[in-house]
Amino acid sequence: MDRIALTCPDDWHLHLRDGDVLGDLVPFTAERFARAIIMPNLNPPVTTVHQARAYRERILAAVPPGRAFEPLMTLYLTDITTPETIREAVESGIIYGVKLYPAGATTNSEAGVTDLARCHEALAAMEELGLPLQIHGEVTHGNVDIFDRETRFIEGRLVPLMGRYPRLRLVFEHITTAQAAEFVHEAPASVAATITAHHLLFNRNHLLAGGLRPHYYCLPVLKREIDRESLLEAATSGSPKFFLGTDSAPHARGDKESACGCAGCFTAPAAIELYAEAFDSVGRIDMLEGFASHFGADFYGLPRNTDSIGLERVDWNMPKHYRFGQRDIVPLRAGDRIRWRLTERERA
Ligand code: NCD
Ligand code: ZN
Repeated sequence: MDRIALTCPDDWHLHLRDGDVLGDLVPFTAERFARAIIMPNLNPPVTTVHQARAYRERILAAVPPGRAFEPLMTLYLTDITTPETIREAVESGIIYGVKLYPAGATTNSEAGVTDLARCHEALAAMEELGLPLQIHGEVTHGNVDIFDRETRFIEGRLVPLMGRYPRLRLVFEHITTAQAAEFVHEAPASVAATITAHHLLFNRNHLLAGGLRPHYYCLPVLKREIDRESLLEAATSGSPKFFLGTDSAPHARGDKESACGCAGCFTAPAAIELYAEAFDSVGRIDMLEGFASHFGADFYGLPRNTDSIGLERVDWNMPKHYRFGQRDIVPLRAGDRIRWRLTERERA
C-alpha cells in the first residue's frame, strides 16, 4: 500500500504558543488535522474561560483562509481552580478538558498543582460533569530519577486519583513507558492515553548516544527501546484507549541549542507523516486510521470527521528550519528524509 486515504485525523495534544508565532505554527496543523486539543501552558497560563475564549479567537485568526480547523480549548488546573470555573468551562461549549501539570514537571508548569488534595472540589466537579482531566504524568521530586518519573506517578498519584474519583475521565498524556501502556490497557474505559510520534520512532539513544541532540529532548524524556516497542504495540493494537497526540512543542532554535535547553520536539510540519512511518515500520499502516482519526473523537464524545486526507509513501526532505516569529525553529528530522507525504485534504 503506497497510497492511503484516512478520515481526517485530530491531534489530541498540541502546543501552539501565542503571539506572532501563531501565524507560523497554526498552518502546519490545520493542513493535516481537523481539530486539536490546545494545551494551556502559556505564560501566564490559561486558567479562565475568558482567557481560553480570547486565545481561541487568536488561533482562529491564524487559520489559513479556506481551511476548516477547530481548536478544542483546555484550562490549566491550579491549586485554586474553583468548581464554578469547571461549571463555566462545561457551559462554554469551547472547553474540552482541564490539564494537570504537577508543579515543576515541564515547560511553564510553575503555576501547576502542588498537591492534588488542594484540587478536590474542582476534580469532584469534573467527575460529576464528565469533563476530562488531561494528565502530565510525572512526579517531580528532585530525588526521583528522571527516567522513573512516569512509572512513579502511576502508583503514587494516578492509582490514588482513580480511587478517589472513579468516574473521572482521564487522559494519560504522551505516555512513554511499557508500564504506562500496560496500565492504561488494563484500566477501565474512562482512562485513555495519547502517544506521540517521536516516542513511537525514537529511544533515548537518539537523544544521547554519539552526542547530545537537543531537538530530541522532550518531557517525558525518551525512554528505552523496549518502551518504544511497547508503545508501538499499543498504538497499532486497535485498542480504542490509545490515540494520537503529537505533543508538538515548539521552542526557538536558541532556546533548544543552549546550555539549558527547553524540552519539546517540534513535529507539527510532518505530524501525521511521522505516525505513518512508525505504523508502516511494523506493517500496520492499516491500523493508523483508528488511532489517528476515530478513537480520540470517540473518547471525547465528539463526532468523527467526515472529510479525508491522503498519504503516499514518497520521500521528501524536512527543511533545516522554519520561521518562528522573529526567530527560527528546527523541526524534528531537520534536513533528513521523511518517508510519507501528505497528498491532500478533501472536503466531505
Ligand atoms: C512541552 C512544552 O514545551 O510546552 N514540552 C515537552 O517537552 N513536551 C510541555 C509538555 O507537554 O510537557
Ligand atoms: Zn505537551
